[in-house]
Amino acid sequence: MKVSIIGLGKLGSPMAAVYASKGFEVIGVDKNPTYVESINAGKAHVDEPQLQEFIDAHKGRLTATLDTKEAVKKTDVTFVIVPTPSGPDGTFTNKYVLEAMNEVGVGLKDKSDYHLVVVTSTVMPGSTNGEIKQALENASGKKVGEKLGLCYSPEFIALGSVIRDMLYPDFFLIGESDEKAGALLEKIYMNACSNSPRVERMNFVNAEITKISVNTYVTTKISYANMLSEMCDYLENADVNVVTQAIGCDSRIGHKYLKGGVAYGGPCFPRDNVAFGRLADQLEANASIAVATDSINKGQKDRVLKMINALNNKPKKIGILGLSYKPGTPVIEESQGISLAVALVKSGYEVVVYDPMAMPAAKAVLNDSVDYATSVEDCIKKCDSAVLMTAWSEFSEIKDDMFSGKEKEFVIIDCWRVFTKSMFKNVEVVYQGAGFLAHSQEKKVLNARAC
Ligand SMILES: NC(=O)c1ccc[n+]([C@@H]2O[C@H](COP(=O)([O-])OP(=O)(O)OC[C@H]3O[C@@H](n4cnc5c(N)ncnc54)[C@H](O)[C@@H]3O)[C@@H](O)[C@H]2O)c1
Repeated sequence: MKVSIIGLGKLGSPMAAVYASKGFEVIGVDKNPTYVESINAGKAHVDEPQLQEFIDAHKGRLTATLDTKEAVKKTDVTFVIVPTPSGPDGTFTNKYVLEAMNEVGVGLKDKSDYHLVVVTSTVMPGSTNGEIKQALENASGKKVGEKLGLCYSPEFIALGSVIRDMLYPDFFLIGESDEKAGALLEKIYMNACSNSPRVERMNFVNAEITKISVNTYVTTKISYANMLSEMCDYLENADVNVVTQAIGCDSRIGHKYLKGGVAYGGPCFPRDNVAFGRLADQLEANASIAVATDSINKGQKDRVLKMINALNNKPKKIGILGLSYKPGTPVIEESQGISLAVALVKSGYEVVVYDPMAMPAAKAVLNDSVDYATSVEDCIKKCDSAVLMTAWSEFSEIKDDMFSGKEKEFVIIDCWRVFTKSMFKNVEVVYQGAGFLAHSQEKKVLNARAC
């Protein structure tokens, strides 16, 4: 089967490689000529684990073009994975999806065979059956139905494991115009993955609600753990890890995403949560859980700042270990490491930063406001205290001898509890969510009472 993929970005290019690996003939389309050239040259333009290996192994079935019309004409199914950026009110805009639908529709005009169009981009509830279907029908001159199928079928992947997540999904979500379209997409998915996941098929609006609900539920869980973590900051001998480990044993709750740490970030979680809240506002429904989740998330950076300000030995130069919003990706969208760097500079601290993958992206944002280390070792050499913001595995290999020659005791604020105190002789490791602020000025009264 031949598939075209419109949009070869962070999601589209791994998807193209995965489909090629499963025997589909894939034509990728992007507006960006550099992306098209790199795919045709067999090079990955997106930093994603396994992507280059997949392209190397399956480039015979993978080509790219700037011409949507041609790609649509030559294929049986078209996936649209273009951006749906958040507008000023926090809801997603369909501008690029509509543009793509117009181009896809023009390609379908003279096609007599059945064609399936799949919207993979995340869209607001009401979009697929509304302006998206309308744009496709107007441009193609065809009605969605017998000869033209339409599905809304977003992906549930995480950057840094996109290929793995596509090959081993928990489930497939299909919003379908009709039985024929949904059944065809289900068949394609079963050939494109390496496991046997459940397939949830439904109408468009239910699929649209399901997509943003999944992320909103996960962000709620993260903020819940961070709320507990903040309480544990102020209670002597408390340890959020011990608490969440126990809570997660309840099968109604589970351990996944129930861990105190820094705020959630990246291109999806923050905006999906906000969009969910806005949708509820528009519908005059009460979504105060989503609002509270967002508010707790926004407060996480200040918790780290509070800990830094409460250190006995005031650091002069602080190292930030980790700038990507999570390990395994260079993406810094809504990154806590970046926003902490900005806040520290604003508060008058000198800052040195290091990240295994995100340095080029960080430089473009932080410019000359901070010092850039060339390695973990270099970062530690240049600062007198450090904060671990992203739990990259290479940070767990920090050794005691990297701190030799430091005049005063070095403090690491470990937001992810990666280090054990016994790992270092001359380093004080302090954890978030473990009573560090129990004796801070403003909480003295509470702790006296608790005692
Ligand atoms: N990145 C993620 O983690 C993730 C996860 C789940 C869902 N999504 C959703 O997937 C969609 C795409 O996300 P992404 O991260 O891949 O975006 P991206 O910005 O990395 O890539 C989008 C690509 O589409 C191209 N494009 C835009 N308009 C086009 C057109 N008319 N024709 C051809 N190409 C066009 C752009 O040039 C770009 O290369 C968004 O709706 C996003 O919300 C993303």
